[in-house]
Amino acid sequence: MSREVILCESAGFCFGANRGYNAVEDAIKENIPIYTFGPILNNSKIVENFERQGVKVIEDVNEFKNLLKGKIIIRSHGVPKETYETLLETGFDIFDATCPFVKRIHRIVEKESKEGSDIIVIGNPEHPEVKGIVGWSVKGATVIENDEDIAKYVPEGDAKICIVSQTTFNRNKFQELVEKFSKNSYNICVMNTICDATCERQAEATEVSKKVDLMLVIGDKQSSNSKKLFEICKANCDQTYFIQELSDIVGRLPRVSGLVGITAGASTPKYIIEEVQNYVRNDF
Ligand code: F3S
Repeated sequence: MSREVILCESAGFCFGANRGYNAVEDAIKENIPIYTFGPILNNSKIVENFERQGVKVIEDVNEFKNLLKGKIIIRSHGVPKETYETLLETGFDIFDATCPFVKRIHRIVEKESKEGSDIIVIGNPEHPEVKGIVGWSVKGATVIENDEDIAKYVPEGDAKICIVSQTTFNRNKFQELVEKFSKNSYNICVMNTICDATCERQAEATEVSKKVDLMLVIGDKQSSNSKKLFEICKANCDQTYFIQELSDIVGRLPRVSGLVGITAGASTPKYIIEEVQNYVRNDF
């Protein structure tokens, strides 16, 4: 008899990650040199797998000068405008896999900054998506991640302030920061650019982890959205394990008699989720 498993429907690739992954898979079939600008996803297993198939990860636009002409795939996080234009000038074939939800933020930031607004991006200043967003403002932007950043902020004259968010930022924290910011009675325009995929995945993980006896979160150790899922599940289910692939659990999980729940971060491919699910259903 197989074990009962609850697999979260939202587990695994989001729309943007899927688009980037498929772009690389399709490009490999073309038999031309393939480059991704930065790792295509926050998942070292996927990146290594593509590297074995000849895909090269390039971090610096200047490197293309010395490389064989081929296709460059821009990952879903997007890039600053200057980088984008330099990539176009390389003469390589460009596939822009920037997620359309991120592209929308680029367009807002570019337009609002051209019209004179100060731009504020709520997010992690080190995240490539945030660096990309900042790079679409014609006059730079301020990144705000916490209360201290708000305290340090000095507006430029009385220009309108346009606030956008990193797509994966926590919705409650975003609201909190915007409310604190609003108290300073600036002339602000708030664009909530948080992507629903993250919220839905977290909400479902919360619900499932409350019902099960053991919970598995599949994702890369470097992936912030996977780490967040782990924290959420661990708070509800003590027996929660953060794994990268099937080999992390074979013969290692404690025996439980009841239900097992599975969720996965936005950069976890379907085949890994299926392998884990099949193992837990039939062999665990
Ligand atoms: Fe795009 Fe949302 Fe994923 S912004 S990359 S679909 S988390």
